[in-house]
Amino acid sequence: MRRVAIIGVGTTKFGELWDKSLRDIGIEAGIKAIEDANISGSDIDAIYVGNMSAGNFINQEHVAALIADYAGLAKRHIPATRVESACASGGLALRHGFMAVASGIHDIVVVGGAEKMTDVSGADATATLIMAADQEWEAFVGMTFPGLYAMMAVRHMYEYGTTKEQLAMVAVKNHRNGALNPNAQFRREIDLDTALNAPMIAYPLGLYDCSPVTDGASAVVLAPLEMAKKYTDTPIEIIGSGQASESLALHDREDICTMKSTVFAAREAYKMAGIMPSDVDVAEVHDCFTINEIIATEDLGFFKKGEGGKAVEEGLTERDGEIPVNTSGGLKAKGHPVGATGIAQAVEIVYQLRGEAGKRQVDGAEIGLAHNVGGTGATAVVHIMRRVN
Ligand code: COA
Repeated sequence: MRRVAIIGVGTTKFGELWDKSLRDIGIEAGIKAIEDANISGSDIDAIYVGNMSAGNFINQEHVAALIADYAGLAKRHIPATRVESACASGGLALRHGFMAVASGIHDIVVVGGAEKMTDVSGADATATLIMAADQEWEAFVGMTFPGLYAMMAVRHMYEYGTTKEQLAMVAVKNHRNGALNPNAQFRREIDLDTALNAPMIAYPLGLYDCSPVTDGASAVVLAPLEMAKKYTDTPIEIIGSGQASESLALHDREDICTMKSTVFAAREAYKMAGIMPSDVDVAEVHDCFTINEIIATEDLGFFKKGEGGKAVEEGLTERDGEIPVNTSGGLKAKGHPVGATGIAQAVEIVYQLRGEAGKRQVDGAEIGLAHNVGGTGATAVVHIMRRVN
């Protein structure tokens, strides 16, 4: 297996991008990434595109071919592959790009993620998103993602004493970080009262416990580490990659306070990287709802099971805390264009490890982790990255 590095990154702003189409934002992110990598289109051997549901959001399937065509790459007939795994589509596309370079099949690979969600009504977006849950057992009887995560939150509160205030503190922290991210959907801080008194979406999750509906795209350029220095002085090596699955429906799980997919994906990634959770300096985790940041920080091994809420309350996940979590603002404030999210997380980790995260910079960050979840955890993907000195 060859060692693989990220040599370039790019992202669009996240938010309601009504004046841009999916192809516009996909290309914008891709061009930024290839400029950042100092390569040209003729260097690219393959592209992978994470996208969850363009068919339902914008009536467009065959998205990877569309992006390759619009980017001028179809003329060179390079392979273009779409990867779909609900909200983990981006992270999984990154894993497939990583495997393609590691195996020696391709050298220069662009991995992007893109989703255009705001061209449909909120009700239609909710109906599309829930297609990633179990249709017969969950969606058919009226479940939504806020509803499913609300059940996980209530159980976590019951089992471990996690409080609504602790959930709200995740939102306050992530809005504080998002305010420092020029590409975030929400660049405003909120206080605890605002989070606690927001309109209820599905008890105990209020408006600020939810990630929003978002348009956006992000991209990274991968190369074998041995070639990376030809393009950049600051290659970021992917030192661990893990993926795992779990039952699609919540009711088939022994315990809905944990995502075994995260536990197993993280175990594989830590093993490949040869590190422990305590070695991680900065993490982007899948906070589609505030409860999931708490569950993820436990399942990733940063805190003991049941102590994720307390950790937030004690400030351990703040930018200057023991393990800074979601410095980008997370899905909560940066936004959650579902198929792009896994790539956007990797982009933030690259900024952090290069020391280019501006006011969000974590001092001396050398090892970063990105954790991307599909649905309520039927898929989880974990990547670990390290600065190459
Ligand atoms: N956090 C903070 N503010 C939010 C927000 C969020 N998640 N969602 C919407 N807002 C704000 C909007 O900016 C808008 O503010 P404004 O009035 O100042 O312009 C206001 O709230 C109303 O926005 P609207 O789009 O009408 O909200 P909504 O009630 O239709 O949708 C949710 C709110 C929470 C239902 C929606 O964001 C949602 O479905 N989120 C979950 C998405 C999801 O399930 N993703 C997959 C995860 S697995």
